[in-house]
Amino acid sequence: MSKLTVERLSRRFGAQTVVNDVSFEIADGEFLTLLGPSGCGKTTMLSAIAGLDAPTSGRILIDGEPIFDAARDCNLPPERRQVGMVFQSYALWPHMKVRDNVAFPLRMRGISMAQAQDKIRWALSLVEMEPYIDRYPHELSGGQQQRVALARAMVYGPRLMLLDEPLSNLDAKLRLRARGWLKELQQKLRITTLYVTHDQTEALVLSDRIAVMQNGRIEQLASPVELYEHPQSAFIADFVGHSNLLNGVVQNGAARAKVRFGEHVIAVEKILRAADGAAAAIAVRPENIVLHREIAANAVDRCNFMPGQILQRDFLGARYLYLIETSGGIVRAEVAEHFEKGEVVVELPAHACVAFSRDVAA
Ligand SMILES: Nc1ncnc2c1ncn2[C@@H]1O[C@H](COP(=O)(O)OP(=O)(O)OP(=O)(O)O)[C@@H](O)[C@H]1O
Ligand SMILES: [Mg+2]
Repeated sequence: MSKLTVERLSRRFGAQTVVNDVSFEIADGEFLTLLGPSGCGKTTMLSAIAGLDAPTSGRILIDGEPIFDAARDCNLPPERRQVGMVFQSYALWPHMKVRDNVAFPLRMRGISMAQAQDKIRWALSLVEMEPYIDRYPHELSGGQQQRVALARAMVYGPRLMLLDEPLSNLDAKLRLRARGWLKELQQKLRITTLYVTHDQTEALVLSDRIAVMQNGRIEQLASPVELYEHPQSAFIADFVGHSNLLNGVVQNGAARAKVRFGEHVIAVEKILRAADGAAAAIAVRPENIVLHREIAANAVDRCNFMPGQILQRDFLGARYLYLIETSGGIVRAEVAEHFEKGEVVVELPAHACVAFSRDVAA
């Protein structure tokens, strides 16, 4: 079990900076996820840590020992880093049985097949694949192949696991099941893990902490709850919670932070990094919006109510998703009550609204 430290890491390909001065640490036994849209540099980061690609600058350390240091020309080859990696495509060798696939990393390290038997059985039993030891990959389902890939990465007791979208090839149902056993396995072994995904639900469910990446940088690194409840930018609010982002202008000065939105003034919980008069985006989650048939006479903060027209209603099972046109733009609201198409009053509760500078949102 080990601690990983990444210090000021950058990777440039020609003029493009794909990983841009990134620093973070993963504690011993921690499950940290890199979450971000396609092309933001997640795989490049993993490849650097695995030793499959050399960054342009920065350092990578395991337990304080450098495995890569651009300034000192230190670059340990992958097989000496003791890092297990599972790729997006699970890439088992098709001509080898499960047993031989899992034995491969041991053989690479000079361990004979006779000595390796116990380790192979241990790794396969962890992922409940021991009964399949003599099958070929094409005789297994996608989920089973994925488990074998995981056993192969763990068989020699790596100090660190790197998992690059390991569930992305599975169908939705299998993916949910695989997510469950992956979490169980990590909790049982407490192996330090760096996980990559662009699926926010997967990240929220699995991780101790999440680093949200955009354009080669970490925008925010926090626990799932912190990230969901206190996003530091409009990009994160949108990416992690599919928030409504409503464009307005900061109208501060009053006791409470306010943003002008169309012809309305919306009181918000807080305004991050936007000065008075600046363009701002109000982020509010669809599930936090309240719909009324009319404005209640005793509504305290009347400024957070505005009339709208329901354009569309989708049944989601336990709730409805409404698309509502207001004078400031279209708002998505997810509520349990049934409303007919037509007029409705939209309430944006102040405690559920956070405003961000639009410069940050861009
Ligand atoms: N060998 C390379 N040469 C040039 N550009 C590269 C190379 N490898 C990656 N890139 C570029 O670096 C950027 C980041 O790629 P990376 O594979 O790290 O993205 P990612 O976040 O893993 O995306 P995805 O979610 O699609 O897997 C992309 O724009 C990609 O085209
Ligand atoms: Mg990738």
